[in-house]
Amino acid sequence: MKHPGMFQFICLLALLIYNVHSFNGNQDSIPTGKLLVLTVATQETDGFSRFMQSANYFNYTVKVLGMGEEWKGGDVGRSIGGGQKVRLLKEAMEDLSDQEDLVVLFVDSYDVVLAGAPEELLRKFQQANHRVVFAAEGLIWPDKRLAEKYPSVRSGKRYLNSGGLIGYAPYVGRIVKQWDLHDNDDDQLFYTKLYVDPQQRVNLNMTLDHKCQIFQNLNGAIDEVMLKFGTERVRVRNTMYDTLPVVVHGNINTKIYLNYLANYVPNAWNYEQGCRSCDQNMVDLSLANEFPRVTVGVFIEQPVPFVPEFFQRLLDLDYPKDKLSIFIHNNEVYHEKHIQRFWEEHRNTFASFKVVGPEENLSEGEARNMGMDSCRKDAQCDYYFSIDADVQLTNKQTLKILIEQNKKIIGPLVTRHGKLWSNFWGALSLDGYYARSEDYIDIVQGKRVGVWNIPFMAHIYLVKGTVLRTEMKERNYFVLEKLDPDMALCRNARELTRQREKDSPSPESFHMLRPPKGIFMYITNRHEFGRLISTANYNITHRNSDLWQIFENPVDWKAKYIHPDYVKIFTENRLEQPCTDVFWFPVFSDKACDELVDEMENFGSWSGGKHEDRRISGGYESVPTDDIHMKQVNYEKEWLHFIREFIAPVTLKVFSGYYTKAYAIMNFVVKYTPERQAYLRPHHDSSTFTINIALNSKGTDFQGGGCRFHRYNCSIESPRKGWSFMHPGRLTHLHEGLPTTNGTRYIAVSFIDP
Ligand SMILES: *[C@@H]1O[C@H](CO)[C@@H](O)[C@H](O)[C@H]1NC(C)=O
Ligand SMILES: *[C@@H]1O[C@H](CO)[C@@H](O)[C@H](O)[C@H]1NC(C)=O
Ligand SMILES: *[C@@H]1O[C@H](CO)[C@@H](O)[C@H](O)[C@H]1NC(C)=O
Ligand SMILES: *[C@@H]1O[C@H](CO)[C@@H](O)[C@H](O)[C@H]1NC(C)=O
Ligand SMILES: *[C@@H]1O[C@H](CO)[C@@H](O)[C@H](O)[C@H]1NC(C)=O
Ligand SMILES: *[C@@H]1O[C@H](CO)[C@@H](O)[C@H](O)[C@H]1NC(C)=O
Repeated sequence: MKHPGMFQFICLLALLIYNVHSFNGNQDSIPTGKLLVLTVATQETDGFSRFMQSANYFNYTVKVLGMGEEWKGGDVGRSIGGGQKVRLLKEAMEDLSDQEDLVVLFVDSYDVVLAGAPEELLRKFQQANHRVVFAAEGLIWPDKRLAEKYPSVRSGKRYLNSGGLIGYAPYVGRIVKQWDLHDNDDDQLFYTKLYVDPQQRVNLNMTLDHKCQIFQNLNGAIDEVMLKFGTERVRVRNTMYDTLPVVVHGNINTKIYLNYLANYVPNAWNYEQGCRSCDQNMVDLSLANEFPRVTVGVFIEQPVPFVPEFFQRLLDLDYPKDKLSIFIHNNEVYHEKHIQRFWEEHRNTFASFKVVGPEENLSEGEARNMGMDSCRKDAQCDYYFSIDADVQLTNKQTLKILIEQNKKIIGPLVTRHGKLWSNFWGALSLDGYYARSEDYIDIVQGKRVGVWNIPFMAHIYLVKGTVLRTEMKERNYFVLEKLDPDMALCRNARELTRQREKDSPSPESFHMLRPPKGIFMYITNRHEFGRLISTANYNITHRNSDLWQIFENPVDWKAKYIHPDYVKIFTENRLEQPCTDVFWFPVFSDKACDELVDEMENFGSWSGGKHEDRRISGGYESVPTDDIHMKQVNYEKEWLHFIREFIAPVTLKVFSGYYTKAYAIMNFVVKYTPERQAYLRPHHDSSTFTINIALNSKGTDFQGGGCRFHRYNCSIESPRKGWSFMHPGRLTHLHEGLPTTNGTRYIAVSFIDP
């Protein structure tokens, strides 16, 4: 035998097999029909529904105690409590205690999921060889003085946790019969006192599940557990004891971690089948007589690039506009012109249209409260759809998809293009800020696709109106301590009451049975929805500030400013050659042309076409045009980047083998008009090649114009707006600008690789 440990291993294995065998031989397994799950829930929270789903998946028989009762088990954020649970169990056991062979599993529900089947649970219970088995944990609470009374354990968790117990009905009955305290007294203390009494321990035949065979409490144990993916089911594995617990309990402040685990366990998502819970409880809008009414809250809290495009995408949503009410909060004077235009054109498109402007001087939190309230107060409002102006929704179905997913709160995943930056967090740090969950990157990159229960989201989300009017009926969700408004919303929805936990550290909130809001928030990445744009470095001192966004938001810049047919140059050879070696192709959108002209006219200092030119080295221009240099409007850097990104690839295509440095000193917009300079006499350009982009339209904006190449006796007299010429500069292509006879003609020119 090569491996020294191998022999021992095989012996151990043999022993194990022998044991299991003999065990089975001595004792019949308990039929699953003899198992009853008892749980307590006073309200049907999201956590309760999740518990029931896991129970139903494994076909557990569950009896729910206390539903509809007022919770009196104490404010567990502040003090001990949970006695109500024992009282309810005591009442339930009165009818059950005489069933000798009935096995009762008693667990919390709001923060519990079941991860294994009844057969497995019963087998493990039998192996424990006691009449009653309690959950265990490594921390003692509520009375530390009782610690030394516990039997010592060689390995495993020493202390009792009252979040879970399993036992034969008569024994469980005998335990809870001893309860004569109040609803807000402490259940864990009660069970603990019984357990540490040696007499009771023996008489009631009680033990603890020291090694998490059955019960996994997550508090203090997050580092011990990990997901174990199977082809069908996903388990939680305790790596310290190498066990697969059946009951997973997110006690105290591990709820968020439980939410993460339950995104997979027991059968929500796995690698083979992907998301298996995503289609549950969907609503089918195509079956609805009428589309639900949605209040759309739009928030412009800072200068945001591409706001007109944002509004266009809102209009493009595939949803009946008469079912949408618009509420806009705009905090920026710069954007008033955009809102004005949107309002003028579309105020009657929507069911209603309200704008709250910067003059109201609302804080962001107040504004968001106001938007949410406008749905809450309107009984007709079925959904509140909040969207910040930095979300560019490219998926027209977004609103429908979110509604159909049928969650109380759900957002679509949107990310910063090419970045891991997104609108959700998969985990929280102890102080409530961002922490990266194990699955965050996979979700952002779409390697795991599904609907994910997460602790924080922002920028865009949908909330059910009924939820706003019931569970979330308190106003002022967005103002909480010094948190930013989105964090305030999420914390209020989770109601983790972190602050309180911090004030009175550790186990106060052991028994999270108090009706918690605990509203689950979901993010879906089942579709592409759009992207988050960057609001950093947005300089709004320009008239058309988006033109400057080529670095910060390249995708949106391209979508706005590059000709829709540009890509066809490469895919369909959309490129013409009207004269020898003069190439002609679409590059700028109409918006790019219009905004560039607007910037230049706004700047206004046209050179006048004089030979003396202090802007260039030497100060003399032999063939002067009436122009403004890009540099003069602070657009040089952006322009050169445009040449690198959009002109260089065309150069490589038409002058194959020539790699342009995409460098240019002379970048300018020329203005031709009969009143000033109408034409340009024949000349060579001081460039390796030149681009010449028409910025407006012949016929509508001007008459005449065009370009004539002498060597080839070839003229192009019908320039097209947004199209560029590209031709060699200093040797072969002597050319002239033909006279503009009426109106004003604008072109953008660069002498590239001078
Ligand atoms: C639960 O019961 C149904 C119907 O009897 C059965 O099809 C299903 O396989 C059972 N599920 C499990 C996990 O045993
Ligand atoms: C406890 O119960 C088991 C069976 O569940 C039994 O085998 C064992 O002897 C009992 N222990 C005591 C101390 O009574
Ligand atoms: C706007 O509100 C802030 C804070 O509430 C206040 O400091 C400021 O003076 C207000 N400005 C105007 C113009 O009312
Ligand atoms: C914003 O643009 C203006 C005008 O081009 C310029 O003077 C200013 O320096 C820019 N500000 C920043 C922060 O880049
Ligand atoms: C140039 O072309 C025009 C027609 O396109 C023709 O009339 C003219 O004769 C040509 N000139 C020369 C020098 O070839
Ligand atoms: C020049 O253009 C203007 C307006 O586009 C038009 O009214 C005028 O008739 C034009 N003049 C000539 C000579 O074509």
